[in-house]
Amino acid sequence: MSYSEGMSDPIPFSTALRERSSTAHSGSEHAGFMADLLRGNGTREDYVNLVIQHWFIYAALEAAAERMRTDPVAAPFISDKLTRLPALEADLEFLVGDDWRERIEPLPTTQRYVDRINQVGAVWAGGFVAHHYTRYLGDLSGGLYIGKVMKRQFGFETNGIGFYIFDEVADPAEFKNVYREQLDAAPWDAAERERVIDEVLLAYRFNTELFEDLARAKESSAA
Ligand code: HEM
Repeated sequence: MSYSEGMSDPIPFSTALRERSSTAHSGSEHAGFMADLLRGNGTREDYVNLVIQHWFIYAALEAAAERMRTDPVAAPFISDKLTRLPALEADLEFLVGDDWRERIEPLPTTQRYVDRINQVGAVWAGGFVAHHYTRYLGDLSGGLYIGKVMKRQFGFETNGIGFYIFDEVADPAEFKNVYREQLDAAPWDAAERERVIDEVLLAYRFNTELFEDLARAKESSAA
């Protein structure tokens, strides 16, 4: 970055991104389904249904990461320490059973979310990073807390909540700091930064709408 750019753009991109997405974050955080689960008003089945949807999302995200590994812009963000799919599969085996693959289906929002990850994950590093950021930085923030609450509420030890346990990330706060430095160092001009922010907002919308789908599925199964 040149000195003049530094003067005219004093807010680091990672800070701008967090600020510009904080309203969308609150929307996801306070969605009824999630809030109920955290307050003890959700069932074990609700939790399992969320794990199932996560499997589809991370299968897409981590397949995209494999494709993006050789992309110079995306590569710095990709780390095996984050990989969640094996943990999700072990969780599903424990929660659903050996035949979990035959027993799970994506909800409509999950399908749209996955389609979008596949689409940008094939061609656009900035868009891929937007989806990567929204999930993994969330997992390393509120996710750690959610994991603890689920553990307490449903009596899990580690089976069933492996998704929330990042064995290889010793210091999540430090990991997130390094990640934010990488966001600040990405070679994106102002227009590309806007597009990345928009994609993060879209990712939040998918997450919020997924909670709405989960709430609706719950109502219709109770009816
Ligand atoms: C009830 C659910 C949630 C709670 C309690 C929660 C809580 C938090 C907290 C406390 C932070 C700040 C951590 C820090 O600055 O180090 C955070 C950051 C974050 N959360 Fe959440 N969160 C929730 C749901 C979500 C969801 C559904 C998503 C999106 C999938 C998400 C994505 C993020 C991201 C991307 C950040 C990092 C923001 C940044 O520093 O750039 N969170 N969350």
